[in-house]
Amino acid sequence: MCPLLSLIIAVILGLSVHGQTVYLAGDSTMARGGGGSAAPGTDGWGQYLGQYLTVPVVNRAIAGRSSRSYTDEGRFDALLNTVRPGDFVIIEFGHNDGMSGNVDNGRQCAFGDGYNTTATVSNSAGQSLVIHTFPYYIQNAVVAIQAKGAIPIISSQTPSNDWSNGRIVAGPRFVGYAQTAANRTGATYVDHYAYVAQAYNKLGQTATTAFYPGDHTHTSPAGANVVAQAFMRGILCGNSSLKSKANSAGQSVPNGCL
Ligand SMILES: *[C@@H]1O[C@H](CO)[C@@H](O)[C@H](O)[C@H]1NC(C)=O
Ligand SMILES: *[C@@H]1O[C@H](CO)[C@@H](O)[C@H](O)[C@H]1NC(C)=O
Ligand SMILES: *[C@@H]1O[C@H](CO)[C@@H](O)[C@H](O)[C@H]1NC(C)=O
Repeated sequence: MCPLLSLIIAVILGLSVHGQTVYLAGDSTMARGGGGSAAPGTDGWGQYLGQYLTVPVVNRAIAGRSSRSYTDEGRFDALLNTVRPGDFVIIEFGHNDGMSGNVDNGRQCAFGDGYNTTATVSNSAGQSLVIHTFPYYIQNAVVAIQAKGAIPIISSQTPSNDWSNGRIVAGPRFVGYAQTAANRTGATYVDHYAYVAQAYNKLGQTATTAFYPGDHTHTSPAGANVVAQAFMRGILCGNSSLKSKANSAGQSVPNGCL
């Protein structure tokens, strides 16, 4: 049977037997328990997404991970072994993907957005290893998800509680890299950074700062809910088929399209 036909049949069978599930891959800003014991009283936005959808959400985000370490630890592979045709996979990294110091921290990515760009770094034992760029790790995951008949959504990282002249500062380079990875793979892109910034700018710096109990990265449960609402706003304003899974609460999240 031709691969396309078997994929279509697999999608139809998968949907009729199992329904769709939304899987989340990301870091502490998305994970259950947020930053954990290092950031008490925080939670990740992935815990608040399910209340806006008609399909279940499985949160596989893990604190401290980057696109590289999530890959190297086999977490994308584990997801691939779990997803069924028709499932959604939302991928959001960036907070932990920046360069480390002289000794590799296991999560930094090579600088730049080239798929084939690499860097050679040294670990604490003095061994050298080759690392890849953020788009490389994200694109590989996306292509593998697409090959399973599942639906990847690349989401840009959340803003930190950093302000300039009463506005959330411009996003770091990983925001653009996320869009680049989406453009190259045809995956849906949600500019989550921009949608959260919109919500925060409207609430103002004082109200937003109340969402950050310990540091400038990890949100309180109330803040995580605002971040989840901003993601839903991005979905409502885009073309992903996840839009059709918004329940009435999901359809009435605040703010408008960018
Ligand atoms: C990356 O390198 C491989 C092997 O040289 C090549 O086949 C591929 O076209 C390159 N991809 C991009 C996006 O440049
Ligand atoms: C991605 O594609 C969109 C639409 O063509 C374009 O506006 C945007 O500049 C591209 N972004 C990147 C980072 O390549
Ligand atoms: C939605 O799809 C239309 C038609 O393909 C395209 O013109 C538009 O830019 C897309 N919008 C978004 C937000 O991706």
